[in-house]
Formats: sequence, C-alpha cells, structure tokens
Amino acid sequence: MECIYPDGAALLAPIAGLSDLPMRMACRKFGCKYAFTEMIDAGSLVFGNPKTMYLAKRGEQEDFLGVQLVGSDPETLIKAVEIVNRHHFDVLDFNLGRPAPKVAKKTEGISFALKRPDEAVKAVELLVKHSKIPVTVKTRIHSETDPELTVAFCKRLEETGVHALTLHGRIMKTFYSGPVFYNVIRAVRESLHIPVIANGGGLTPETCAPLLTETGCTRLMIARGALGNPWIFRELAGGEPPTLKEFAVQLESHIRDMIDYYGYDLGFRVSRKTVLEYLRGRGFPAPLRASVSTLAGWNTFETFMIGVRQGPTDRYWEFLEKYPEQLERKLKP
Ligand SMILES: Cc1cc2nc3c(=O)[nH]c(=O)nc-3n(C[C@H](O)[C@H](O)[C@H](O)COP(=O)(O)O)c2cc1C
Repeated sequence: MECIYPDGAALLAPIAGLSDLPMRMACRKFGCKYAFTEMIDAGSLVFGNPKTMYLAKRGEQEDFLGVQLVGSDPETLIKAVEIVNRHHFDVLDFNLGRPAPKVAKKTEGISFALKRPDEAVKAVELLVKHSKIPVTVKTRIHSETDPELTVAFCKRLEETGVHALTLHGRIMKTFYSGPVFYNVIRAVRESLHIPVIANGGGLTPETCAPLLTETGCTRLMIARGALGNPWIFRELAGGEPPTLKEFAVQLESHIRDMIDYYGYDLGFRVSRKTVLEYLRGRGFPAPLRASVSTLAGWNTFETFMIGVRQGPTDRYWEFLEKYPEQLERKLKP
C-alpha cells in the first residue's frame, strides 16, 4: 500500500481551537502540505451542530486536508463517516490520543484505547469499512516503561486496515509536556508495516531532529511548534527564520484572514490567542504583550502593529547574537 505521505513529510497536527483554516493557510504559505481540521466530535457532526460544520470547512486553495473525528459510539461513528463521505477530504483520522478532560468523563481518545481497547479497535474497523477515503489513527503511547503494551495495541490497529498511524510519544497523564519516549515510538515503527508518524516535542528544527533520528521514522507531525510559527515548515526544509519585517507582514495577514473567516467581533476575540502565540518567545516588550487583551478592532490593532514593527527588546537581540542556540523562536533583524 503506497503511503499517503511521502518520506520526509512534516504534517500539521489537528489542534482543537487553533488549526482552523487561517492557521492552516499560514502554514501552507511556508511549505506545509499535509494538514487536518480541528478535532470534530462525531455526535455533533451527526446532529448537524452548525459550529461543527464550520470546523469541517475546507478552503478552496487547500491541496490536502484530513478530517479528524473523535467518538466511541458505533452507530454515531457510522453516521459521521457517511457525512464525511459526502464532503471533500483526503484522509479520515480517528482520535485515540486525546487525554480525557476531567469534567467530561467521556470514554474517548486515549481513554477509549486504554479502558475499552476491544471496542476501540472495533470502532476503527467500522471506520475503515464505511469510509470512502483512507483511514488513519492518531494515538499515544500506553506506557513509558513497557513498549510492548503500545506495540500490541498498534498492531491490532494495523490489522484493521488503517493506512498510517501517528504516535504521540507521551503517556496520558503527562498531557502535552514531559518527556517524549522515542524508544516506544521506535518499537512500534519496527513492529508495524504501515507508516508510523512520530509526534511529540517537535517544537523547533533542533527538537524535531531526534523525533526522526531516535525513532527511525521518516515522517513527523507538529502541533505546538507551528503555533504562531508557520515558518517552522520552511526551517525544516532548510530555510531561514523570518526577518522582523516578514514576521510583521505575516502576523497582520493571519489576523486579516481570521477576521474574514470569523467576522469582525468574534474574529478579534479569537485572534488574541493567535497573536500571543506569534509574540511568544520572541522578546517583545511586556507592555506590548499585555496590550493584546485589548485588541477589539482595526484601530487598536493598527496601534498594536506599530509596536510590533518596532521589534523585540534590545536584550533579545543581544541574547540572540550571543546564544542563538538557546532561543526557540528566532527572528532575523
Ligand atoms: C491546545 C491543543 C489542542 C490539541 N488538539 C488536538 C486535537 O484536536 N486532536 C489531536 O489529535 N490532538 C490534539 N492535540 C495534540 C497535538 O496534536 C499533539 O499530539 C501534541 O501537542 C504533541 O505534539 P507537539 O509536542 O508537537 O505539540 C492538541 C494539543 C494542544 C496543545
């Protein structure tokens, strides 16, 4: 079976609340081809929740788009796949990796895989049977001490006929921080015939490197490293970090796309976290960062952009010159 993703591919992860069309378009400008919708709840899709339909919206210019479903009820999943079949997606990814939110004690994501593995595997079988497009799974490692637990489960997933598997190398209780267990990803890759996409901790080109070298995988998936940093895809292909001028142009263009996509009021409200992601780790002065919470329209945004164009503090530039390797997010003067 030919892999959907070529060797060397860097995929943009599904990121709930963030990997919307404007973020995907920003990453695509800098070389990202493979991207996913935000996670879509199968039940909400089936009940026609308008917000969910919006999450599944594909941009006209999107060359490749995967849709990610989460859920566990077999009937609902079948209905959700039927809806997916009527839309234009390239891959259907099933989420078996999401750590259970404490409030909603739903058995979905990784807890579905851990607590009801037989049903989770059956759910994947159903998706494969009913889907008209290739099905993939995104999951996490089950244990950091015994790779065999993850290997055994992933083998069962492979037997369902999924085309590829993305493996986040952290256990459930560490959510998105803590060590990434490359050895477990490696053990799974060595035991499976389908491609395994390595995920976890690829925040910079430097931290992406061991995701490949230590696991032996030839494809990786990036989530937080792309937040406010679409240039990571260019850097992974050997390109440069942005200049301050390029940074400011891209930030403004991303926010304009968000206003077009979400409308004026909602657009400004939801764009604040995106703006903060762009500023993060780049040495912008604290008062400028604090002013993000007041962004509510073009007037405030234009004033804010004057501050952005003035750039980071002198301290940042001095530090960048002396210790470039210690800065995750680099700007060029
Ligand atoms: C805010 C946030 C939202 C996320 N939403 C999803 C999601 O919708 N679906 C999914 O499979 N993983 C989701 N993840 C997990 C990421 O896709 C990824 O597996 C994880 O962040 C590890 O990769 P990273 O170290 O490159 O960030 C989310 C992570 C974060 C931080």
